[in-house]
Amino acid sequence: MLEIAIDKDQPKAELYAELTSFAAALVDGEPDAIANMANVAALIWQYVPGLNWAGFYRVIDNELVLGPFQGKTACIRIAIGSGVCGAAAASGLVQRVADVHAFPGHIACDADSRSELVIPIFKNGAVIAVLDLDSPLPDHFGTEDEDGLVSLIEAIANYLG
Ligand code: SME
Repeated sequence: MLEIAIDKDQPKAELYAELTSFAAALVDGEPDAIANMANVAALIWQYVPGLNWAGFYRVIDNELVLGPFQGKTACIRIAIGSGVCGAAAASGLVQRVADVHAFPGHIACDADSRSELVIPIFKNGAVIAVLDLDSPLPDHFGTEDEDGLVSLIEAIANYLG
């Protein structure tokens, strides 16, 4: 197994650059998307500060289905277009929500969640999954988190589906 030593208190841009390198090394040569999602969820959970949930929903038969994650048990199926994850899947756009209570249709899997960041994952031009991060802190996610995680996901998307 890879030895991972990442300083989670370093500046965000450097943190995400390191996480991207480690994520790429973790999935390298492994064709099983579920195994790769499981390791990437664990990596993000361990090193991104301030999370209460980190994981994936996969697009299966035009619905989002719970994938590998860290955190409390969560809703299993989400309609495309529903909630924050469904909005990301429907639009193909990152959803960075400062206050989940102000987001129409937000689905409260964990009552502790206050802010949320959802990154759509593309393969061959279609959304095949989303990465969902929740924080108990209001307005926790900034542009550096968004940019860093978009780059991370782009670097490994071919191994996630
Ligand atoms: N809050 C999400 C649902 C998934 S959980 O946060 C794990 C949403 O509104 O789509």
